[in-house]
Amino acid sequence: MDQSAINNKFDDRIDLVTDLTGLEALKMVGRSLLFIGRVKLFFFTKLFFALISVLPPLLVPWILKIIVDQVVLQQPIDIYSTNFPSILIPLLTPLDGLTPSEVMFAVTSFMLIMLVIFGLRAPAAQQAETWGMPVGYDPATQSEQALSAGGSETSGLWGLIELSLTIKMTQRLANELRIQLMERLTRLEMTTLDDQRIGDSIYRVMYDSPLLPGICYRLTLEPLLLILGTALNIYLMQSTYGGVLPELLKISLFLIFLILFITIPLTGLARRLNQTNRAAGASTTNTMEESIENISVVQSLGGSDKETERFSKASEESYRRHRHTALLDAFISLVNYTCVFGSIAIAFVLITNKVIGDELTVGDYSALIGMFYMLSASAAGLGLYWVELQKNIAAVRRVFFFIDYTSEYGHDDNRMDRIQNEIKIRDVNFSYPDGRTALSEINLDLPIGQVTAIVGPTGAGKTSLAYLLPGYLRPSSGEIWFDDYKLSDRSVKDIREQVTYVFQEHMLLSDSIKENLLLACPDATDEEIDDACKTAGADEFINKLPNGIHTKLGKAGNTISVGQKQRISIARGLLRNTPIIILDEPTAALDPKTENKLIARLKGASKGKLFVIIAHRLSTVKAADQIIFIENGKIEDVGSHDELMLKKNGRYRHFVNLQNQ
Ligand SMILES: Nc1ncnc2c1ncn2[C@@H]1O[C@H](COP(=O)(O)OP(=O)(O)OP(=O)(O)O)[C@@H](O)[C@H]1O
Ligand SMILES: [Mg+2]
Repeated sequence: MDQSAINNKFDDRIDLVTDLTGLEALKMVGRSLLFIGRVKLFFFTKLFFALISVLPPLLVPWILKIIVDQVVLQQPIDIYSTNFPSILIPLLTPLDGLTPSEVMFAVTSFMLIMLVIFGLRAPAAQQAETWGMPVGYDPATQSEQALSAGGSETSGLWGLIELSLTIKMTQRLANELRIQLMERLTRLEMTTLDDQRIGDSIYRVMYDSPLLPGICYRLTLEPLLLILGTALNIYLMQSTYGGVLPELLKISLFLIFLILFITIPLTGLARRLNQTNRAAGASTTNTMEESIENISVVQSLGGSDKETERFSKASEESYRRHRHTALLDAFISLVNYTCVFGSIAIAFVLITNKVIGDELTVGDYSALIGMFYMLSASAAGLGLYWVELQKNIAAVRRVFFFIDYTSEYGHDDNRMDRIQNEIKIRDVNFSYPDGRTALSEINLDLPIGQVTAIVGPTGAGKTSLAYLLPGYLRPSSGEIWFDDYKLSDRSVKDIREQVTYVFQEHMLLSDSIKENLLLACPDATDEEIDDACKTAGADEFINKLPNGIHTKLGKAGNTISVGQKQRISIARGLLRNTPIIILDEPTAALDPKTENKLIARLKGASKGKLFVIIAHRLSTVKAADQIIFIENGKIEDVGSHDELMLKKNGRYRHFVNLQNQ
């Protein structure tokens, strides 16, 4: 199926090309690994713990051999002639000359001590994510569990220390990525935000980022441990039974290639299934978020059933996708177990034959089967390596996509000084991503110290023009200058330190009025707050409230009137004290008297500042120092009200006359 069609189905409009080539997947992996640099100390401590924990399990087959030969079959121990690796001889010398029951007592005590310190080691091929927890079949659960990824392959006291260390490191890694993503998401351009659904963003931050640490472990610690464990195992096996059964090593090597041969063709599919699985999950979150967000509209239009149906569809689709990835996981695990136990069956036949032929003892049988099991499990681990990594790659791709999405701007590292003189807009054109041209050939000078009004019919491009100033939109061509700074060289953060945008929709929090005001400037003094409230005309009604500025607002500020919310929003904007302040329809909900007062006060406060007011009402506009009349995305008139009214065929004059009719 066409990739973009898949994602359109899940209402993704930005992140469309989700399929990765093998090379791109490798690059993703490389990029993930760089994050280890941020947790170096943790990482190397963890490495030390993990490396040591590889050793105890290697003793198990030899302990089994002693139990069978010396305890059960009661043969005398001859540590120099019965197939013990020379490295273990010092450990075994205390057993020399002991009776079978004494050997049993010694071995059991040793095992108990090891059990307390190292516990039972999980098989090497077991997934790192599953430390002590079921994997879970949906990405949300998997992500929760991924936060304790790479726990410890031992238990016991050693494992406990390692686990607590690892969880801290895992969470820090995931957090680093999550914060980076969040920072980008909060700076997305408006055009992107129009298309980017909130549910999807939540999904990426909450459920996709935690899969980064998995990559870090799987590419560093896991292979190291697998290779070290396997190499030691091979050394022990070769140095003892190499001459008797050289086939065992070949079977393990063959096992690695067999599993790779079966699973490598599945990696592309694994990546795609995991991508769509995640996209479907995000889509369910979107649907839920939007239904709840618009709950009053849904209820007022009697659309509850329809919304429930929409959610039910998204949810079903998401579960269906989960099933696909779960089936693939199950298939891969089937391949794993069949290959491992198939090879163990072959090894069983080979080893038993030697025991029947008296070339090996029964104890040798236990030791060899034990070693071969570990070896084949490690071999399977290596074979499954790449295919199992695809789930993590699919998730981090979704995170890196948005981290990269806006990083193309802002290369200039010098901080921008506060703008003193003017904004210059030169030959600016702007088209929305869908191709609609909203602004053409804009050339304007906006001096600081003035109130400038943008006027024009609905859909003319007023908001689009104003959005260029805080960098919510970036010109398709042309350039904007803040004094001598080119905006195209500047980061969004830099630009927004100069510009405050007061939206027409008032975004107030359900906190006190004062807290809402402080949002813009946490260090503002009471005097500054008073001043801002006075300029915005908010002081009159605030003083009449029983708790004054400490009055708590309801959800989204719903316990005060629209006009009051508007004035608090304006006061909040003023408090930020940026040189450029844009007010979108600031007087729409005000009566003419309050409106006139507000405009007069803004004019009074415009020293060193530029107020850009988007307005419909003439009364707001008349008092402005400069009026920009825009129609069909073009600037048709610029000047003061009086100047423009003198132009006989001026578009502004025509517009005013129409309004006055
Ligand atoms: N996200 C978008 N994608 C595509 N086209 C858009 C988008 N937003 C706005 N437009 C189009 O750009 C043009 C200018 O819109 P803009 O919002 O700037 O108008 P406006 O002058 O602010 O109108 P109003 O007075 O109604 O607020 C319109 O034709 C609108 O349909
Ligand atoms: Mg508008």
